[in-house]
Amino acid sequence: MNKLFGRDYITTQEWSKDEIEEALKLASDLKNKKHQGIPHRLLTDKTVFLFFFDKSTRTRNSFEAGITQLGGHGHFIEASTSQVAHGESPKDMGIILSTYGEGIAIRHDLVPGEGNSYMRAVAEHATVPVFNMQCDIDHPFQTLADLMTIRERFGDDLRGKKIAVSWAYAPSYAKPLSVPQGLITLMTRYGMDVTLAHPPEFKLIPDQIALAKQNAVEGGGKFTIANSMEEAFDGADVVYPKSWGILELFGKPEEALKLAANYKSWICDKKMMAHAKKEAIYMHCLPADRGNEVTDEVIDGPQSVVYQEAENRLHTCKSIMALTMGGV
Ligand code: CP
Repeated sequence: MNKLFGRDYITTQEWSKDEIEEALKLASDLKNKKHQGIPHRLLTDKTVFLFFFDKSTRTRNSFEAGITQLGGHGHFIEASTSQVAHGESPKDMGIILSTYGEGIAIRHDLVPGEGNSYMRAVAEHATVPVFNMQCDIDHPFQTLADLMTIRERFGDDLRGKKIAVSWAYAPSYAKPLSVPQGLITLMTRYGMDVTLAHPPEFKLIPDQIALAKQNAVEGGGKFTIANSMEEAFDGADVVYPKSWGILELFGKPEEALKLAANYKSWICDKKMMAHAKKEAIYMHCLPADRGNEVTDEVIDGPQSVVYQEAENRLHTCKSIMALTMGGV
């Protein structure tokens, strides 16, 4: 059996670079097979439980379509309609679902300090792999797809390539911090020159900043914090501007959105893109607040790779499930 059989996937940091390499290799293989219509039923009759405390388009559907293509089945569970809403413990859920199926995936991303701990509590008692479909700390399925997308454009050796991870204005809702945190901690491991930019109130979790700095040292890359989107974009190969909320204000979303409105100029438009290299790519995990985080001209323009990036969610998700749930 594959050495990754039974492994949780809660943060990218807990997988070695060799293990991530294996996941990316299988993801590319599965992508080719899907494009060529070659069946790849690696998880016949296996079940993954998909437990959502928050809304989703890409994550839910990449898991559901992915497990179907692998020959298994995904159960969608909305936390509010399960006994978790009545206080059922993560321990009981981990033990019981482990007797029903082969994987447990959880999205719990809207309450800082809760999501990651919750999935670790499930994992402590589960005997099947637990997958993080986005928490307060990381969104490892997203950033793995992002890494795959960046490599498809620039090749496997990303040393010295500059990525700008910038806050952008969005009026829709206070988005989790997990995507920028996942990006700065993963891309620094690959020797990238990672520049983070945000208005002063929109800081990331200090532990994740410290981890990005440590990863940059160990990965031979750089980690810098800039004061503006323009500064972050200067000379960038990859730009990833997106909104996120204020750590201390997730319980008071109206206050956070009011503060965010002071920074409407943090939008990725054509003028902003001109700061990056001519061949730079524009990325966003989606959903994007069009007209606020980014103009239509940029997100629909030739530098945008958002649909390739979203498609890669399917292939990377299938790869992680196949490697950990006994498919290869
Ligand atoms: N990028 C992402 O996780 O999308 P969803 O919120 O739609 O799942």
